[in-house]
Amino acid sequence: MERFDLARAWKHLPGRAAPLTYVPGVSSTQDLARHLAARGWPDGTVVVADYQFAGRGRQGRSWWAPRGTALLFSLLTRPALHARRASQLTMAAAVAAAEGLESLGCKDVAVKWPNDLYVQGRKIGGILLETQISANAPEVELAIVGVGINLTVDFSERPELQATATSLHEWLHPAPDRVRVLAAFLRFFDPIYASLRAGGSCHQHWARRLLWLGQPVSVHTAQGEIVGIARGVTVEGALLLEMPDGEMESIWAGDVTLRPAD
Ligand code: BTN
Repeated sequence: MERFDLARAWKHLPGRAAPLTYVPGVSSTQDLARHLAARGWPDGTVVVADYQFAGRGRQGRSWWAPRGTALLFSLLTRPALHARRASQLTMAAAVAAAEGLESLGCKDVAVKWPNDLYVQGRKIGGILLETQISANAPEVELAIVGVGINLTVDFSERPELQATATSLHEWLHPAPDRVRVLAAFLRFFDPIYASLRAGGSCHQHWARRLLWLGQPVSVHTAQGEIVGIARGVTVEGALLLEMPDGEMESIWAGDVTLRPAD
């Protein structure tokens, strides 16, 4: 397995000033990015790994990818955004990943609320946002945006994932390598992030890609299962669910599945 080619990555990112760093293996790129943040590394730093031995996903789940088969990275950001707008960072990463993958030829990359990347009904990637809110203002002083995108993952080792997960090599022949996918992501992410910092929003671009709007869904939340029709998403990132009694409910966290029509 080839290591991530840091020198070639730099050549794909002319003019990008923030550091790009690479380690062959780490617990989680989120941990390393947090460690670098504590040592003063700047906004925009990208941390890439070939392998994570404790990669994590949302809601305490683990994130699995054999060495070198997925693009695994974390972006260290110091966005100074109001805490209410923190989920804009997840939206920015989802939009950048979708646009980046499509710019490489992958068709119809969708977002499953809140932050899964889907191709043809199966998950190709995910985003994990970890924030630190400032003590004296409701402001995000540090946000680590973790992105995992499956490139050549062979799911035969994990049969339970086979029906629900996919990799870029199923859709593009040959599949672009990790350097090209990272460069494509950053080409879209950097301007979206700059606009976010200047008060802009990518909510509409994100909402346009959402799966299952107008369809009956079931949302697994910490409070239990909620069923309704997915009607939309708020600027703050909540899912708007039309309940059986016609009331609209905002859901802030959970896992959505499509429900067969009654
Ligand atoms: C999810 O689908 O629940 C989010 C998955 C996020 C995975 C990426 S891989 C790089 C970064 N490091 C981690 O430990 N997680 C994120």
